[in-house]
This record gives sequence, C-alpha cells and structure tokens, in this order.
Amino acid sequence: MPGVKGNIIIRNAAELVTCSGFEAKKGRAMSDLGIIRDGAVVIEKGFITRVGKTDDVLAGFNPSGFAVIDASDKAVLPGFVDSHTHFLFGGFRAEEFSWRLKGMSYMEIMSRGGGIASTVEATRKARPHELMTLGRRRLDSMLAFGVTTVEGKSGYGLDAQCEVKQLEVMGNLDAIHPVDIARTFLGAHAVPEACRHNPDSFIDYLMGEVLPTVAERKLAEFCDVFCEKGVFSVDQSRRLLQKALSLGLEVKVHADEMTQLGGAELAAELKALSADHLLHASHEGIRQMAEAGVVATLLPGTAFSLKEPYAPARVMIDEGCPVALATDFNPGSCFSESVPLMFALATLYMGMTPEEAVTAFTINGAAAIGRADRIGSLDVGKMGDAVLLEFPSYLFIPYHIGVNSVEKVVKKGEIVIDRSSGIEG
Ligand code: NIG
Ligand code: FE
Repeated sequence: MPGVKGNIIIRNAAELVTCSGFEAKKGRAMSDLGIIRDGAVVIEKGFITRVGKTDDVLAGFNPSGFAVIDASDKAVLPGFVDSHTHFLFGGFRAEEFSWRLKGMSYMEIMSRGGGIASTVEATRKARPHELMTLGRRRLDSMLAFGVTTVEGKSGYGLDAQCEVKQLEVMGNLDAIHPVDIARTFLGAHAVPEACRHNPDSFIDYLMGEVLPTVAERKLAEFCDVFCEKGVFSVDQSRRLLQKALSLGLEVKVHADEMTQLGGAELAAELKALSADHLLHASHEGIRQMAEAGVVATLLPGTAFSLKEPYAPARVMIDEGCPVALATDFNPGSCFSESVPLMFALATLYMGMTPEEAVTAFTINGAAAIGRADRIGSLDVGKMGDAVLLEFPSYLFIPYHIGVNSVEKVVKKGEIVIDRSSGIEG
C-alpha cells in the first residue's frame, strides 16, 4: 500500500546495521555497527522516528499511511555518504588513461599541460545545462550504488566565472535530484598557465576575488586545496585556507597524495574537517590529525588507478584517527563511482575490516562533511536515508567484488531506487 509522502516502515531486516552515532567514530568504535537482528525502522515525513527489534518497534503502532518494505533475508544500512568527489566536469580523459598504462605518470601528464588543465578547458566550454545533464546522469549512477549524500568539488574552472558556474550547477542539481550535495570550493586545484611562474598571484586572486563571492553567496560549505609538490605549497595552502576560515567556510586538504609535503600536519594545525588521500602522510602528521580530530578521508580507488601505495589505514585507525572512505570520482585519477569497488580495495589491500569500512562510508563520511548529526546512521531524528541489500549481511558488500549489491534505496522516506525483480520467495 502506498503511504503518505516520506512515510515508510522497513521491517524484519535480517540485519539492521544502524551505525548508531552522532559524531565521527575512531579506534575500536569503528568496529561497532550497532546491528539489530530482525530489526525495523520507521520513517515519518522523511525522518526516522523509531528504530529497534521489529516486534518492539511495531507493537501498538498504526501503520496506516505508511508504505511497508519487508526486509526479511536482507541487510539494511544507512544511505552511503560519498564524502570526496569531483563529479561535475566536462570532457573525459580516456586517452590519458592509456598513456598512464604505457608508463607516463599522473604528475608528468599534468606538468605537460594535460590532466586537470584539459578538464578545465572542457568544463569552461560546457554550458550550464550541459553540465546539468552530465551531473544528473552521474548522480543517478551514484544513487543506484546507495549513495544518498555526496560531496562535490569545483576546481575545473580556476577562474571566478567557471568556478561559480560549477558551484551553481551543483546547487541546482541538489534542488532537483534525490542525492543531497555538499559543495566544496576547490579553486586551488591547479595553477593556471598564466600564473605558472607566480603561483602566489593565483592564491592572491582566489583570496581577493573568488573566495569572498563564494562565501557571500553561500555557494560552498567548504574550501579545499591541492597541497602537493609542483601544485600548491604548504604555505600557499595555509594562506588560502586561513582566509576561507575567516570567511566562515570549513576547510579540507588534498594532502600528501603523491609526495610527503606536510599536508596532514597542516590539516591538524588548521583543525580541518578532513584531510584526504594521505598516501604518503608521515606518522607524526597522522598523530597530529588524531589529536586535532581531523577525519582522514581515504580514497582507495585513486591509489588503485594510479598504481600508488595505499594509504596506511591501519596506522591511522590504531592512532585514533576517524577514517572515512570515498570514491574520489573524477575524470583523471579515479574515473569510478563504484562504492563496492572501494569496499573491496579497502578490505583487501588497506587492512580495514568490513565493519570499519561500513563505518567509514556512513557515519564517518557524514562527519567528513560536518553532517554526522543529520545523516550517516539509522538513529531517531536523522534523515530517513537507507539502503537495502539483496543479501542478508553487510559482509556481502566487499565480498561481492565491485558488483552492486544494493536492491533498494530509500531517500527521505521515499523509495528512489528499486532493482528487485519483483518476484518474491
Ligand atoms: O583527488 N589530486 C587532485 N585532484 C583529483 C584529481 C583530479 C583530476 O585528475 O581531474 C584527485 O585525485
Ligand atoms: Fe580529489
């Protein structure tokens, strides 16, 4: 029976994986998924109002006006939070991928004017409605993987006009698409050709002309920077991020991705919301991040695609860093929005347990975008975002390597994806 908008009961889940919590989890807490067997969740007007054993939750509850999903033999989890992507871009770089297969490195391609610069050219040319169409299709694909909230970065404009265009299009996509979008200003993603001999002048331009507009028009919640040898130094990154903080944005850092530059230490110093990549982060930097409560957002698909060593997830978790996992979906270093692929890589190659990976893609992903109070777990008061697997346990996510095990997706109490055959029993 169809219910009132945003009203739904999911009952008799073999495993209700609540991931219960309202803040980032670290250390051993990352292994506690708060599983309820034969569990149920009630969502009313888009928000969770009851969670527990099916018998307890539904005792004396009047289900009229509610759609009902019978989740027998299925696992139910919070909607996934993909907390690091560059999903809005024009053009593709398939050819570059083939050059990398022949041995050219990502940074070599970038230093020859390819890489991010080529996507900037295509994104500048793209009209807003073309970006809308591309973005919509990509969000559809993410939603089918169970992603109910995504972080999206600008950074393929590198000038006020195109950076604003990217952020505006993401705002418009947020308004029309079920997937919620948290926007990040990444104007400092690459040094434009014209500033190549004076990158400081580009930082000055971003600080003086672009960031104030972004902050004033509330086009982004976060400011990020590609802090990397040959891109932006630690000092340049610090200058930009301090300005962003002064304008009321929270900050993130693309840190220690290709080289050990001190990005992790900078993130700790500025109390960034997250430091991301961290393939080459120093042990001291990791310790400082743990101390400062910075979320370590790890992107296994990028290490895989670039054939770089994986980030030391085990050290980070053992040192007390809250770890999040995300896809880094972008046209260059990781052209993949596959959530199950990231689960497989994190568990097989980064030493993370399936439980830690689930925490990293839910409540810790939410914490990486400052929304752990609103999403990322099945707790009373949170948004009614859930995924239902075709299998009885979350263990199938990494085990079913790279293949989508999500059968249904519920966003704000509405079924927005249903991949079931319709044949039951
Ligand atoms: O997260 N490192 C910088 N930015 C992206 C790649 C963007 C691109 O290649 O287009 C990343 O890997
Ligand atoms: Fe990235």
